[in-house]
Amino acid sequence: MQQSCELFFVSSNTHKFEEAKRILSNLGLEINLFKTTLEEIQSNSIGEIAKRKALDAFSKLEKPVIIEDDGLFIDSLGGFPGPYSSYVYDTIGNKGIMRLLENIELRNARFVAMIAYCNGTDNVKLFESSIPGKISLSIEEGGWGYDPIFIPDGESKTYANVSDKDKFSHRAASLKKFSDWFMHKQ
Ligand code: IMP
Repeated sequence: MQQSCELFFVSSNTHKFEEAKRILSNLGLEINLFKTTLEEIQSNSIGEIAKRKALDAFSKLEKPVIIEDDGLFIDSLGGFPGPYSSYVYDTIGNKGIMRLLENIELRNARFVAMIAYCNGTDNVKLFESSIPGKISLSIEEGGWGYDPIFIPDGESKTYANVSDKDKFSHRAASLKKFSDWFMHKQ
C-alpha cells in the first residue's frame, strides 16, 4: 500500500529526484520535488553538510523535507573528493578525476549517500549508506554526474551502463534505511 503524506525531496538535481522517487515509490512511499538550490557549507563531514541543507530546506518550505548529500571517496586520493564532490565535479569533472588517477592501479572508491529528514520539530535525522566500487579506466557514455566513471563492486560496467542502478546504488541503500524508519514512525 502506498503511503500518502506530504513529503518533499528538496534539490536542484532532477536526476537525483527521479531516482529517489522511483526507489521510494517501489518501497510504498510517494514524494514530491521542491526544486531549489540549498546552502552547501564547506565541511569535512557529509553529515554536517546534509544537516544544514535539511534545515535550509525546511526553512524555505515549512513542510516535512528530505534532502540528500553524496560524496565519491577515492582510496588512493585519501578519500578525495569526498565532501567536496560537487565542487570537484563542477570544476575538474570526470576528466580531471581521470587525470588524477593516471598510472594509478589502485582505483578503489566508495559512493556515500546521506539522507537527512527534517520536519521542524524533531532533530534532523540522518540515514547514511555507502557502496564500494572502483573508478573505471575510461569515461563511459551515458548517465549523469560521476555515473560514467564509478563501477560498483560485482559489476563490470559503470553506474551509467549497469542494468538496474536502483537495485544497489548508494541512494537506494540509504533511502531504504530512511523509508524503514519513516513508515514505522507514521
Ligand atoms: P551532492 O553534493 O549531493 O549534489 O553530490 C556530490 C556530487 O556527486 C555531485 O556532483 C553529484 O552530481 C554527484 N552524484 C551524486 N549522486 C550521484 C549518482 O548517483 N551518480 C552520479 N553522480 C552522483
